Amino acid sequence: MKIAVIGKGGREHALIKALKNSPVAPEMYCFPGSDAINTLATPIPAKDLPTLISWLVENKVDLCVAGEESYLVKDEGLANACVQAGIPCWGPVKESAQLEASKEFAKEFLLRHNIPTGMARVAANLEEAQEIINGVYPTVLKFDGLAAGKGVAVCMTKEEADAFLNEVFVEKRFGPGRLLVEEFLTGPEVSIFGALVDDKYLILCPARDYKRLKEGDAGPNTGGMGAVASRRLVDADTLATIEKTIVAPTVAGLQKDGLPYRGFLYFGLMLTPNGPKVIEYNCRFGDPECQAVMPLLDGDLASFCLAGAQGQFTPEAISFKNGWSVCCVLASKGYPESSHSGDAISGLDDVANASIYHAGTRWNDEAKCYETNGGRVLAVVAQGDTLSEARQRAHNEVKKVKFDGLQRRSDIGFASFV
Ligand code: AMP
Ligand code: GLY
Repeated sequence: MKIAVIGKGGREHALIKALKNSPVAPEMYCFPGSDAINTLATPIPAKDLPTLISWLVENKVDLCVAGEESYLVKDEGLANACVQAGIPCWGPVKESAQLEASKEFAKEFLLRHNIPTGMARVAANLEEAQEIINGVYPTVLKFDGLAAGKGVAVCMTKEEADAFLNEVFVEKRFGPGRLLVEEFLTGPEVSIFGALVDDKYLILCPARDYKRLKEGDAGPNTGGMGAVASRRLVDADTLATIEKTIVAPTVAGLQKDGLPYRGFLYFGLMLTPNGPKVIEYNCRFGDPECQAVMPLLDGDLASFCLAGAQGQFTPEAISFKNGWSVCCVLASKGYPESSHSGDAISGLDDVANASIYHAGTRWNDEAKCYETNGGRVLAVVAQGDTLSEARQRAHNEVKKVKFDGLQRRSDIGFASFV
């Protein structure tokens, strides 16, 4: 079996490792990949979507797995192009991927299908936004488009809201687009992953990510500074409520709206005092949640995804271990506002009892070492029978990795949320 994974980050590194470890032992390919990923998967010499698809066809690739969201909605859409070319794709078509690409589309979908979520209104310009906010803080402002996890501002004060409104409507930092003004919700957050095959779904191992840069959930929002995953993260009653009020109606809603879906669907939820509510959908696995979840996976992920991409639902193919997994992310100097490249990374070979996934690194052939090449640089992930065991292991191991300007949180897995 030949599988191509599309993306280049830590999530894709973890996915490729898990797919490669499947009993069917697939040959792995990647686009665009990274130096570290290329040690596990052959890089595909493509430059854009059409050349990628031609290569997949010529090389008789059996399955394309979407890692990164951007490819799903760019041009004609990765999955749409695969369908055209007759290549099974694990990842939704462009029409369905609007659930992630447009916050307004997602909000309308949620409301149409009576799925619990925060109330929201859409603003086309600064004045409309201020009118909707109407002096009530905290408020949550969401740019209506892909913004690499940076298009959301939880504003506690008018000053914070004004600053974000300025970025969106005056500086146009994210390009043209509208803004959602959403009700401020409170409660622990949890990431639930579904594997959807048309009208069927499997709920995978839940996870929680740590979005803020600093310990104690302080500092700016990031793409994720760490994650914890376990089947025991969410109690059975809460999970049953999530399935009944959120997952099942979402899958039914997609069917009803004629939106085909084969792939991972990520439900970003907040467990509010009034029950679980949807904060966002993502049409792919989470990053860094994927790095935490994949080491807990048993079974044959490759066969599961291939069957799913072909419309066959085979939940018996995969299962999740009972333990805990803790993922610590290392970010470079300046992240998340900027990032720093070219800092030599040491200690990778000293890490034992833990997996290392590369996100923003490159191989420096002169120095014979990896160096930083992006905001989030690496993830160190360890497992244990208990949360404290997994946590201790992950923190012991992550300390061994060093580079100039390194940023990481020392409280990943500690903050109480279960
Ligand atoms: P999102 O990109 O939509 O996941 O939002 C990023 C983060 O902003 C979430 O993980 C939450 O921590 C926070 N957030 C989003 N929506 C809300 C909301 N309605 N109320 C409170 N916090 C929110
Ligand atoms: N961990 C959040 C995300 O993947 O968007």
